[in-house]
Amino acid sequence: MAEASRPEASPATRDCTSGLAEAFVSVECALPQCEDCTVVAQRFSERAGIGELTLAAPLCAAGVRPGQFVHLRLPGLEAHILRRPFSVYRACASAGTITLLYQVVGAATRHMRSLSVGAELSILGPVGSGWEPGRAQRCLLLGGGVGAAPLFLLAEELVARGVALCLVLGAATRELLVCEDAFAGLVGSARCHLTTDDGSRGFKGRTTERAAALLADEPYDYIAACGPEPMLRKVAALAAAADIRCELSLERRMACGLGACLGCVVETTRSNQRACVDGPVFNARELCW
Ligand SMILES: Cc1cc2nc3c(=O)[nH]c(=O)nc-3n(C[C@H](O)[C@H](O)[C@H](O)COP(=O)(O)OP(=O)(O)OC[C@H]3O[C@@H](n4cnc5c(N)ncnc54)[C@H](O)[C@@H]3O)c2cc1C
Ligand code: FES
Repeated sequence: MAEASRPEASPATRDCTSGLAEAFVSVECALPQCEDCTVVAQRFSERAGIGELTLAAPLCAAGVRPGQFVHLRLPGLEAHILRRPFSVYRACASAGTITLLYQVVGAATRHMRSLSVGAELSILGPVGSGWEPGRAQRCLLLGGGVGAAPLFLLAEELVARGVALCLVLGAATRELLVCEDAFAGLVGSARCHLTTDDGSRGFKGRTTERAAALLADEPYDYIAACGPEPMLRKVAALAAAADIRCELSLERRMACGLGACLGCVVETTRSNQRACVDGPVFNARELCW
């Protein structure tokens, strides 16, 4: 509401509400921005059921940090009132665009698949803590399926800093392996290791098996991973055994995405943390699995 349209408070009311007003101001400042945006590109693989949706979202594109996500509200999906969280896969501040990588699993993602260029939607974000590799010099990144999405901006940042980087991208089958070209283009195909459970592409086995071999071969000082929770638990165990700092991005179900509903609480050694605003990236050592 504009300041001029507010009714004038009495001096006494002003005194006792000033703290409250300040509290409101600080909550407002902490809230992620809401941005109306337009679809500028849609690519979809029918075989994989996975797509890339590029949005004109200049505010988000300019402010996003690697590992953050946006909370998406889709037009024409009023029956599903909750926004849906998606990692920012790619961002281009100069073009004012962000790209989301999405796998069709239910109503909202089916609807995303139907969006054409020009469709309008709303995003809240960027939200969340993001990766903190610090001064790491030798990094290992692991992405399981669409869990590769929050790793791309991190990989870009590390490559720009001249950090030695190795990637493991895994999926059940070759059709579900995503972002191979994007990551290989960034770090070179020799540093981009692929795994499939059925052996249809790359190493036959799990990302964690490939990671264990890489950890035995070379020293690393930071591991980042996103994917299914059983994979993340194994990554945490590998990192603990090798005494390497490790961060994991957790994909918890989220309702508000603002830290208010406590629906996404994660138990950590420090306290209960909200995956939406305190995460989704957590230090692996602090997670109480
Ligand atoms: C921080 C964060 C980042 C994410 N990033 C991506 C991403 O980059 N790409 C992507 O494809 N998905 C991502 N997800 C998951 C995505 O939010 C869900 O797949 C989506 O909300 C499903 O909506 P839906 O209506 O299509 O399916 P629903 O009908 O809501 O659910 C369909 C199925 O998916 C499962 N599911 C739904 N939401 C989640 C969730 N949050 N975590 C685990 N399982 C879930 C449900 O249990 C159900 O089995 C992310 C989730 C979080 C929390
Ligand atoms: S989704 Fe509501 S507190 Fe995290």
